[in-house]
Amino acid sequence: MEPSGVDGTGLPGAGKRVCVVGASGKLGQYLVRHALDRGYEVVGVCRERSVPKLAGFEGRITVIPGATDDPAVIARAVRGCDAVLTVLVPWGRNHYSSGTAQAVLDHARPGARLVFSCGWHITRDGKDEYTRRFRLYAAVFGRLAKLARVVDVDDQVEACRRVFASDTRWTVVRGSDLEEGDSEGLPVWSRHVGDPVLASNRTRRVDYALFMVEAVENDALVHEAPAIVGRLTPSARAHAGGAA
Ligand SMILES: NC(=O)c1ccc[n+]([C@@H]2O[C@H](COP(=O)([O-])OP(=O)(O)OC[C@H]3O[C@@H](n4cnc5c(N)ncnc54)[C@H](OP(=O)(O)O)[C@@H]3O)[C@@H](O)[C@H]2O)c1
Repeated sequence: MEPSGVDGTGLPGAGKRVCVVGASGKLGQYLVRHALDRGYEVVGVCRERSVPKLAGFEGRITVIPGATDDPAVIARAVRGCDAVLTVLVPWGRNHYSSGTAQAVLDHARPGARLVFSCGWHITRDGKDEYTRRFRLYAAVFGRLAKLARVVDVDDQVEACRRVFASDTRWTVVRGSDLEEGDSEGLPVWSRHVGDPVLASNRTRRVDYALFMVEAVENDALVHEAPAIVGRLTPSARAHAGGAA
């Protein structure tokens, strides 16, 4: 087979640049690693105080320190990028999540692939079916976190609403509960929570990142909000035949 990368390396990212917004977190660092493995040039954005967390990538990535919801920081970071991978965290009470999403939507170049992360609680079309336990947990956790001014889940909902309404080439990857551990391979996905394939509700963080990076080159995922689950989980093994 002919090598597919533009420089003849056969790597899908050869000659392309991606930006990882929120690069210093656990998911962010896996995103950086997968992107480098695929030959992409990587630009990472993280808070100034977190730059040392990326020391292991020194010399291999460009780091732009700053708040991820700062339009000037994002404008600089996404310049010339073919894709932007955004860890959409709903921290604090200052619209961090929606501010981050908006900055990416406003400044990524037209036609760039935009891949965002969030949890299963986000629904695109209202057709997700959540268990009573999940709804109760989400309601209680959301309320307590908001009261404590730590996490604002409503702002992540708003961030995703803006992404869904945009005319960009977006994918919103909706993750199950995450765990550490060796890769099980590319997670399986479904359009809607409630699909039995997702019942195990568990994905390795390394594979969540893998799914996001693979989505960059997968046009079938443009304008999709795949809910994902680990491919070796019991529910995926039992039902993956019917899933995407
Ligand atoms: N059940 C789950 O846990 C679950 C399921 C599905 C999807 N997700 C998604 O996974 C993503 C994060 O997961 P993770 O495992 O990578 O978590 P993580 O390692 O804790 O990363 C969290 C991110 O939030 C940033 N952050 C932490 N405190 C902050 C603050 N006070 N202000 C601004 N930014 C702050 C971190 O940046 P610093 O390095 O600068 O601290 C880092 O980029 C989110 O997009 C979440 O929606 C989670």
